[in-house]
Amino acid sequence: MIDGRPLRNTTKRQSHGQIVVCLGCCCGRTDKGHPPVPVDWLKAEWKQRKLLKDVQLTISGCIGPCDASNAVLVFHGPDPVWLGGLYAQEHYQALLDWAVSCKETGILQPLPDILIPHQIERRFRQSELEAAAVA
Ligand code: FES
Repeated sequence: MIDGRPLRNTTKRQSHGQIVVCLGCCCGRTDKGHPPVPVDWLKAEWKQRKLLKDVQLTISGCIGPCDASNAVLVFHGPDPVWLGGLYAQEHYQALLDWAVSCKETGILQPLPDILIPHQIERRFRQSELEAAAVA
């Protein structure tokens, strides 16, 4: 149920969460002055550690907040967490460590402290939210 309405679709796949790493028109584009995104490293680590069933890794095109630079969207509870300004390897290492911890413990873990300052507030136009609520 979402907002009192029944869900129409479901999936058999269950995980602790999902991270969507942006590699779009800006994020990771060093030619535009953004820090690199270690996509190949992330994919290799996720594969080697067999993390996909526990924390889905998705490499995406632009997810919206380009000005935040190197954005990541984390689904791990009722509300998604938006991260931005992930400019260092240690930020991506923290995401990896978090995913490993979720897998090893079998329960959802809080995001690492190092990522907390990188949370961004993603704003949507209020009128559109109200229209969506009515639909
Ligand atoms: S390119 Fe990453 S948010 Fe737009």
